[in-house]
Amino acid sequence: MIRIGVLVSGRGSNLESILKSTGSGPIKGARVSVVISNRPEARALRVARRYGVKAVALPPGSDSPDRLGASLATILESHGVTRKEGLVLLAGFMKVLPASFVELYRGRIMNIHPSLLPAFPGLNAQGQAIDRGVKVSGCTVHFVVPEVDAGPIIIQKAVPVKEGDDEDSLSARILRQEHRAYPEAVGLFVQGRLRIVGRGVQVKK
Ligand code: GRF
Repeated sequence: MIRIGVLVSGRGSNLESILKSTGSGPIKGARVSVVISNRPEARALRVARRYGVKAVALPPGSDSPDRLGASLATILESHGVTRKEGLVLLAGFMKVLPASFVELYRGRIMNIHPSLLPAFPGLNAQGQAIDRGVKVSGCTVHFVVPEVDAGPIIIQKAVPVKEGDDEDSLSARILRQEHRAYPEAVGLFVQGRLRIVGRGVQVKK
């Protein structure tokens, strides 16, 4: 059984898509052991509790990169999300992870981003796509490396950008695909089908 820790800051809809799909189907070999938020008031913590999953707010003073990494590692390890066998999912986590933490859990941290990376990394990816006038956008699930939104890509799903779209309508269309892509990527990981090769990811049949 692979134990998953999910890091959140806000709404928690991707967290919920993961919670719905773990413990059965392609992700029956994994379960979410702990959800950690840097914001105690995050809705995502309530989502976790609704599913009976341990929900933890980071202690005050976890702001410096060193403290953040240490707090996260301590909480994850104490819930069995180990750097050797665990999986850490960033689901709308708005803090940059220190390189030391990324190194500790190397190849075992995933993130979901609302654009077709490497286009539009960073904040407000959907707004960037609207401003740039692209005709196609989407979402990306990737492994995390110290550089933000730059790690090996696992899955991407594309959506059209339609005439008259604004940031909200495009975000909603992308979000529906996020809720499919993240459980799919986690399923591939749990089945041992992902291998990082150079800057990419090979998916075994
Ligand atoms: C999603 O759009 C995700 O791609 C981005 O942050 C948002 C989180 O939404 N990283 P939610 O908290 O999962 O609803």
